[in-house]
Amino acid sequence: MKTVIINGANGYVASNFVRNLLKQHYHVIALVRANKQDAEERMNNALAIMNDGENINTNNLEVYNYSLCDDDYSMDKNILKSIFSSNIDYFHFAASLKYDEKSMDEIFSTNIEGVENSIKVFSKYATTSSRFFYIGTAYSCGRLEGVFKEQFYQNEDISAFRNYYEQSKRFAENIIKGNIEKNGLNAHIIRLSQVVGNHETGITRTDYGIFDFAKRISSLATRFPNEIVRVRVDADSTQNLIPVDTVTQHLTRVVEKNSVPRIMNFVSNRSIQNSHIIETLNQILPLHLIPMKGLEWKDMNQIERLVSVGMSFTESYTSTNIHFETVRRDELLKNPETGPDEKSISEMLRYYIENNLAKKKSKKYEAA
Ligand SMILES: NC(=O)c1ccc[n+]([C@@H]2O[C@H](COP(=O)([O-])OP(=O)(O)OC[C@H]3O[C@@H](n4cnc5c(N)ncnc54)[C@H](OP(=O)(O)O)[C@@H]3O)[C@@H](O)[C@H]2O)c1
Repeated sequence: MKTVIINGANGYVASNFVRNLLKQHYHVIALVRANKQDAEERMNNALAIMNDGENINTNNLEVYNYSLCDDDYSMDKNILKSIFSSNIDYFHFAASLKYDEKSMDEIFSTNIEGVENSIKVFSKYATTSSRFFYIGTAYSCGRLEGVFKEQFYQNEDISAFRNYYEQSKRFAENIIKGNIEKNGLNAHIIRLSQVVGNHETGITRTDYGIFDFAKRISSLATRFPNEIVRVRVDADSTQNLIPVDTVTQHLTRVVEKNSVPRIMNFVSNRSIQNSHIIETLNQILPLHLIPMKGLEWKDMNQIERLVSVGMSFTESYTSTNIHFETVRRDELLKNPETGPDEKSISEMLRYYIENNLAKKKSKKYEAA
C-alpha cells in the first residue's frame, strides 16, 4: 500500500483523515510536535477521540516528533531518507487557526514559514513522482465579490481579507505557486470550507466556527438564562459547512487517484442559512437569540456587547454568501456529497452542546 505522510497529523481534520487511511490499510507516517506528551501519545489520543474511544489498528502507523520551521524538521536525516524513499503523498495540514493581530507573528511563522520549510524538506528528500498536497482554506477568498475559482489569486493587503489567518493562507498558496513554476514542485492545493462534525452520526469534535459561536452562547445561557439577546447576524446569509467524514472521504479519493487537478475547492454544494443555526440554538438553549443585521454597538445592551466581543472572529462571517467554483473538484469526485442538510447541522449542534460542553463542565467540577 502507498505511504502517506501527514504533518499536523493530530489536528481535527488530519486525525480523521489518518483514521480513514488506516482503516483502508494505507501506510501512514504522522508528524506531530511533542508538548508535555510525546508525539506518539498525542497521535494515539487524537485517534482514540476521533474513533469514539474504540480501538483502531495502528500497525501501519509510524509517528515522529518534528519541528515545523527547523532545518530537516529537526529530524534524523536517515529517518527522513527512509520515510520519503518510495513515491509518497505528502499532506501539509499544520497551521495556526488564530486570526487576530496580536497573534500575527505566530500565524505568519506557522502558516507561511512552516509551508516554505515543508517544501524544502519535501524537495530535498521526496522522489520526483511524489506529490505535495497543501491544505488551504476556501476562505482565503477574503472579501472577494463573485465566485471564488479553483485558480491562484495574487497576494493582497490585509484590507482584502477578514483576518490574518485568511491572508496567511493566501500567501502560502502563492509560495507553492512559485515553487511549482520555478522548481517544478509536484504540488496541489485543496481548499476546505468550514469543517463540521460527522453528518451521519452527528458526532462533533471541533470547537471551530459555528461551534465556537454555540460555545459562547451556551455559556451565556448559563449565566443569563431566559434572556432575549440580539446578535449582529444576518439571518439570510449563509455558512458553507463541510462534514468531516465527507472531507476525509474526498481526501482518500485524492490518494487513490493518479491524476488530480492542481486546485480544488472542497466545499458543500448547499450552504446553511444563519437563521437555521440561530433557531436550533434557541431550541436547545434556555435563551432567545434574535439575529439583527447591522445592529450597532451603541444600541446594544451589556449582554449583547459581551456576545459581540466574544464573536470577534465569527462576526466577520455572519453576513457572507460566498460562491465557490467546484468544476475541478467535480472532475475528480464525480458524484460528490452535497453537504450537510439542516437536520444534520441541528444534530451536530445538539451533540456538541450536550456532550462536549457538558463533559468539559463535569471535568472542571471533578478537578475542583
Ligand atoms: N477546521 C476547519 O474548518 C478548516 C477550514 C478550512 C481549512 N482548514 C485547514 O485545515 C488544516 C487543519 O485544520 P484543523 O481544523 O484540523 O486545525 P487543528 O485541529 O488546530 O490542527 C492544526 C494542526 O497544526 C499543528 N500546528 C499548529 N501550529 C504548529 C506549529 N507551529 N508547528 C507544528 N505544528 C503546528 C497543530 O499541532 P498542535 O496540536 O501541536 O498545536 C495541529 O496538529 C489547517 O491547515 C487549516 O487551515 C481547516
